[in-house]
Amino acid sequence: MATRHFLTLLDLSPEELHYLIQRAITIKNRLRAQGPTYAPFTNRTLAMIFEKSSTRTRVSFETAMAHFGGHALFLSPRDTQLGRGEPIEDTARVLAEMVDIVMIRTFSHAGLEAYAAASSVPVINALSDDYHPCQLLADVMTWTELRGSVRGRTAVWIGDGNNMCHSWINAARQFDFQLRVCCPKGYEPRQDILEAAGDRVTLLHDPAEAVAGADLVTTDVWASMGQEEEQAKREADFAGFQVSEALLDKAKPDVLFLHCLPAHRGEEISETLLDDPRAVVWQEAGNRLHAQKALIEFLLLGRVDH
Ligand code: CP
Ligand code: NVA
Repeated sequence: MATRHFLTLLDLSPEELHYLIQRAITIKNRLRAQGPTYAPFTNRTLAMIFEKSSTRTRVSFETAMAHFGGHALFLSPRDTQLGRGEPIEDTARVLAEMVDIVMIRTFSHAGLEAYAAASSVPVINALSDDYHPCQLLADVMTWTELRGSVRGRTAVWIGDGNNMCHSWINAARQFDFQLRVCCPKGYEPRQDILEAAGDRVTLLHDPAEAVAGADLVTTDVWASMGQEEEQAKREADFAGFQVSEALLDKAKPDVLFLHCLPAHRGEEISETLLDDPRAVVWQEAGNRLHAQKALIEFLLLGRVDH
């Protein structure tokens, strides 16, 4: 059977994604009740290639492997041959001879696809310029834990049409909820990704209109990794797109607020938003651990029903 990769949410079927969310919740509850006693990754190794910075992604993947009896290797281009020009396809073939699964955080999504095409072991996208699917597993898990099935509900994306926005659009397709994408003109998500989602996703430019009656509101930084030099221009262009307590007041009374983090207080969110009870970002961050345990388990072992 062909090697399964997880480069976007479209690599798994809706049914498989539902399984993963439920499995992540089971794993989390079991860990809470029994501690880390389950060791399905014994003698398995995850290679983690990071070409961009990370706190949550690195710690959650490394901890997931440790809790489940396996091992994780942190590989940076600064001190591997990747940084000296060894072709990614050669690296993929070499690592597949040694490790069981690979996680990559990189710039080019096409480069990630090229790596995966050459890899005989599963490859996980841990963020590219175009997508961040692992974050969406944790986000949908959090939404499901707190509110039950997300099917037919309404989420609102405020801000840049970036990698996170693209993954929210794919999540709306796969989990069958409505998504309103609200961004400044000129910062819309990619047209092909938007169009493929059909009428589940609508594009707006007025945050107050977008959040009216919403079940969930989410945002992200205005300048992503690699766009640092655009910071000042983006701060000006995104004026009026800050998510504040007052903006959430226009959504449903039980609205939830998510942010993949790291957040910039005073920019895309108000100074105090993360202290508001509607913000569930710490639970969301913690769920990266549980969701990725379920993902790695699925890619290495298939479905598990205990
Ligand atoms: N949300 C997220 O991916 O965080 P890190 O950049 O810290 O990994
Ligand atoms: N859009 C952000 C997400 C960080 C987790 C970035 O790519 O930098």
